[in-house]
Amino acid sequence: MLAETIAGLKPSPIVEIFDQALRLRAEGRDLIDLSVGEPDFDTPHHIRAAGVSAIEAGATRYTATDGTGDLKAAIIRKFRRDNQLEFSPQEIVISAGAKPLLAVAMQAVLNPGDEVIMTTPCWASHPGMVELCAGVPVLVETGIEAGFKLSPERLAAVLTPRTRMLVLCSPSNPTGAVYSAEELAALAEVLRAHPDVLVLSDDLYEHIVFDGNRFATLAAVAPDLGGRIFTVNGVSKAYAMTGWRIGYGGGPEWWMDGIRAIFSQSNGGPCSISQAAAVAALDGPQDLLTEWRKTYQNRRDAALEGVAGIEGLEALRPEGAFYLMPHCGALIGRRRPDGGRIETSTDLASWFLDSGVVVVPGRGFHCGPYFRMSVAASETAIRNGLERMADACARLERE
Ligand SMILES: Cc1ncc(COP(=O)(O)O)c(C=O)c1O
Repeated sequence: MLAETIAGLKPSPIVEIFDQALRLRAEGRDLIDLSVGEPDFDTPHHIRAAGVSAIEAGATRYTATDGTGDLKAAIIRKFRRDNQLEFSPQEIVISAGAKPLLAVAMQAVLNPGDEVIMTTPCWASHPGMVELCAGVPVLVETGIEAGFKLSPERLAAVLTPRTRMLVLCSPSNPTGAVYSAEELAALAEVLRAHPDVLVLSDDLYEHIVFDGNRFATLAAVAPDLGGRIFTVNGVSKAYAMTGWRIGYGGGPEWWMDGIRAIFSQSNGGPCSISQAAAVAALDGPQDLLTEWRKTYQNRRDAALEGVAGIEGLEALRPEGAFYLMPHCGALIGRRRPDGGRIETSTDLASWFLDSGVVVVPGRGFHCGPYFRMSVAASETAIRNGLERMADACARLERE
């Protein structure tokens, strides 16, 4: 029998859709995949070359549990350069991707019943990780009207004596919302009155911010709260390195010691070769990031234009990341040509799948009638996918 903490845990619905699409594609179906959550670019050559050199130089042995000294030094430089944050090596932890680091960061500090605040639509793994610790995700619903953001008033209203953590994800997967320094400062003001609340800042999409806006992170905006913020980042999304599996973060030593203790008994250190490649990513030329950012922004604009032309869909302009989260409430209640009724965004996503385009329904993000479409696909794929969606929506009949 499974343990009580995981008996109710469901696999990520994003993975479910992914598997369904794989099956259809194996059957020979022509699908345009707008469900992906990873850059469609190749890892840059100088980073791959650093990985190859590491293999040739024999860097193929265990490393320290919390990462190599070389990568820690590169991460310390990165935090200083990009975020004006100062960390010592003991305040840095590196892991096999940011995902396990976020999960273990929670395991290190949450006791059963502890409440963890986050907004929805959210990345399904954030509440899933809380449940793995027998904690209680406190989901604060946001929508287009709130810009998918947590206001200081709403934060103040959901804090309780059981609150142990706030999870911030900016730029957000799946909404693309980005908190400005001023918005973060307003949240920090509320947190000052609650000294026991920790903050997990998921900054994975830091480099994908549009329209000339500046990325901001809470630890830099509110240095006085630094003793209770864990700032998590990684190379997956920034440098198109999802398969290399390197995530990292900086936070107070007592919290990092807890994470190190868990990893030392479970994971061990991350891949030695990937760590060498990550040094090249963080220390190497950064102009590629600007180029990719422009590409994502153009695709976002193409996607927004397409969605605006579809009756029944409404989308907020994402300020970052590579997703669009259209609202599809106006299509709920319509009927497919075969008579099937669209009751939820899952039904709509399934109708889109039948029509040859893959998106992720709101259920994957703990929210209502929204779906996520990715712009980490070519502009042609985005335009063609939207044409298929427009056609599919036009074929839905009103009751
Ligand atoms: C918001 C967010 N955080 C963290 C991760 C995990 O990234 P990594 O590849 O470093 O495990 C993802 C990946 O989809 C993500 O979307």
